[in-house]
Amino acid sequence: MSNLTKPAWAGENLLSQFVNLLIHTPPIYAVMKHQARQVLIKTAEKNGVPWRQRSEDLANSGIQSHLSQITNPTVTYPDYYQVPFHAYSQGNLCWQAAFEAESATYSMGLRVWPQEHLTWQEAQARLRGSFHQVLANHLTQPIRDILDIGCSVGISTLTLHQYYQQTQGTSIRTVGLDLSPYMLTIAQLRDTHREIEWLHAQAEATGLPDRSFDLVTLQFVTHELPRTATQAIFQEAWRLLRTGGVLAIVDNNPKSPVIQNLPPVLFTLMKSTEPWSDDYYTFDLEAAMETIGFEQVTTLASDPRHRTILGHKLQ
Ligand SMILES: C[S@@+](CC[C@H](N)C(=O)[O-])C[C@H]1O[C@@H](n2cnc3c(N)ncnc32)[C@H](O)[C@@H]1O
Repeated sequence: MSNLTKPAWAGENLLSQFVNLLIHTPPIYAVMKHQARQVLIKTAEKNGVPWRQRSEDLANSGIQSHLSQITNPTVTYPDYYQVPFHAYSQGNLCWQAAFEAESATYSMGLRVWPQEHLTWQEAQARLRGSFHQVLANHLTQPIRDILDIGCSVGISTLTLHQYYQQTQGTSIRTVGLDLSPYMLTIAQLRDTHREIEWLHAQAEATGLPDRSFDLVTLQFVTHELPRTATQAIFQEAWRLLRTGGVLAIVDNNPKSPVIQNLPPVLFTLMKSTEPWSDDYYTFDLEAAMETIGFEQVTTLASDPRHRTILGHKLQ
């Protein structure tokens, strides 16, 4: 059965095509991109996220010299990854994107409960906590090895690792994997207790051994991918999971009234800065997981904007 309910602004209809035309008209796109960025930064700073200060501090910290240590020179970048993204012309493959990723993540948390006037710390804890709780309710066996795919600067990875370390009381091995060595350099800097193994690799072909993880997560990654990449990553997650293991995804919920009713300005800005949005909102993730072999595929609205999708590898 299809789980697909796409918002009206995604896909092939007239509204969606009109928005796509604006996005593909360079002078209009340039203005939209600039505007989106200004609004994002101002809103974040108004809510206490020190966006420009943190970025400046990182830029002046000398961390750039650590890039070569984490970079795997054999990694190749797929075409879909090398397009402008989030208003950065080099997408995730630049320092500016990495220096601003923490602030962008904290701002994302703040957008989930706008009426509740949470601090960014409270919103972030609640965002992660709702995912961890849904996942914990569906786990049937203990977790020893975790892979966080698309870990970015490590916020999702560290909170996940600490959650299982505390709740299970046993030693957990966690790997944070990303295709951007810039993001990973910042992740490593943030991992002050050296709790995580940071890996520069393509999620579609990680090079990690078969059946070596109990839990693979994709947190806020799939909406940034074309469906062909998502399918390939699901296949790789299947290979990496042990029997009884779980693939857990948290991302924008196409069925959420908030997403369905995003004001035109917001969805236009979103589509203009996340080029694979249409592909995500018109793709049946659950069906794709089932095709690969995942069973008991379950979707829950884990917060007002996001869904958590879980699939079990039972063979
Ligand atoms: C929005 S960020 C994820 C944020 C993070 N997981 C969190 O919850 O805070 C998406 C990340 O996915 C990474 N990514 C995208 N495509 C990838 C791929 N094919 N392989 C590995 N990482 C990828 C990007 O570099 C980016 O850092």
